[in-house]
Amino acid sequence: MTLRKAVLPVAGFGTRVLPATKTIPKEMLPVVDRPAIQYVVDEALEAGIEHIVFVTGRNKGAIEDYFDTAYELEATLDAKRKGDALDKIKTTVLPAGSASFVRQQSPLGLGHAIWCAHSIIGQEAFAVLLPDVIIQAEKGCLRQMVEAYNQKGGNILAVDAVPQEEVHKYGIIAPKARQGRVIEMSGMMEKPSPEEAPSNLKITGRYILQPEIFGFLKDQSVGAGGEIQLTDAMARLMQEQAFYGFEYEGRDYDCGSVLGYFEAVLGHALAHKEIGALAQDLINGTVKP
Ligand code: G1P
Repeated sequence: MTLRKAVLPVAGFGTRVLPATKTIPKEMLPVVDRPAIQYVVDEALEAGIEHIVFVTGRNKGAIEDYFDTAYELEATLDAKRKGDALDKIKTTVLPAGSASFVRQQSPLGLGHAIWCAHSIIGQEAFAVLLPDVIIQAEKGCLRQMVEAYNQKGGNILAVDAVPQEEVHKYGIIAPKARQGRVIEMSGMMEKPSPEEAPSNLKITGRYILQPEIFGFLKDQSVGAGGEIQLTDAMARLMQEQAFYGFEYEGRDYDCGSVLGYFEAVLGHALAHKEIGALAQDLINGTVKP
């Protein structure tokens, strides 16, 4: 029952943030003082995740290198007695054996990306964190979900209300009964029109799923946008297993878009313990550039 593994699909091209992502994986774009993906990995680790499966693609090698030891850099900083800098890079190294990298050879959709991790996940429940989405929260979103999962079991999706005109951008759940932050579900739809949307509760990019999902992803046909959709496979699994929406406490940023990325930088600058107050002064105009 304990949730030990998480899948992070990082194969996408980042087309909405070109040209910034022409030669750099979008997950490596800095949000204040660390790459976007570091926030998502930290959220997974905070939730007790012991093994992370990165589903990568070509030109994503920088992600693998980032979580590895940088021997030459470490030796140089050590020789120069730059202890603070050394400490900063050492914390980015994932413990030996706690990360796997598997390639999604073709961009066939999120459902296909998750399926690529099936043999590493095996027969246990797992988390999915979409690295485009950074969630700023006092207690990490996945940790909040794990607490709900320990009570409820089943499959749990982080959800958040969006304006009706934005439902077509997301997976949207059909809610039933509510118990605190946990919402029983009766269905879900990927990128519905505002008319057909079953609610305005979007699926935010954090999931706890049972391994039976892989059975549905295996021969999943294409859905919305001509892609193999995770939402379609979840809707099929829902015929057999319980699904819950979970209204997390926190704020999400869509770093896959230019504005969302900019908001993430602003939000994290303001919350940063060293530069937060100064960032606020800059925004207020007290400090002129
Ligand atoms: C994906 C999922 C969608 C979810 C969204 C969250 O869509 O398919 O259900 O709501 O992430 O960001 P994408 O943004 O990859 O189109």
